[in-house]
Amino acid sequence: MRVLFVCLGNICRSPTAEGVLRHQLTEAGLADVIEVASAGTGDWHVGKQPDSRTCRAAQLRGYDLSSQRAQQVRVEHFNEYDLILAMDKSNLANLQSLRPGHASAELDLFLRRYEGAIDEVPDPYYGGEQGFEEVLDLIEAACRGLVIELKGRL
Ligand code: 4NP
Repeated sequence: MRVLFVCLGNICRSPTAEGVLRHQLTEAGLADVIEVASAGTGDWHVGKQPDSRTCRAAQLRGYDLSSQRAQQVRVEHFNEYDLILAMDKSNLANLQSLRPGHASAELDLFLRRYEGAIDEVPDPYYGGEQGFEEVLDLIEAACRGLVIELKGRL
């Protein structure tokens, strides 16, 4: 199983989701069988580490994002991953227009699938510290649902 998280810049929300899901999969003993990655629809930050505010907030909750480097979504990803999860509706719309007709990956909005009350992870990039905490809260909760689903699919 391979899961790809997608946001706009791949330096805030999707790297957080990658780190949190990997951590929860390790705790569940599934890290060897489920592969996790992240990407952005934009290319501005390709090759860079996640945003320093993202890294700091994640580190305080025990997630190390420092080895991650930003990449842009590519057409091949739609066949390399089983599940592609978008952080907001704009990311999802961009993915839908990039998706080749024959692609095998399932595409969905991350929170719509696993959380319910809110269906988008708000972009924290232009906001304050609290935004990064909210991103972590939403992603931690949704990843718990995702781990349960992934276990059921194995
Ligand atoms: P992300 O946040 O999509 O969660 O990585 C953003 C990062 C950078 C920019 C926008 C959103 N930007 O405009 O550079």
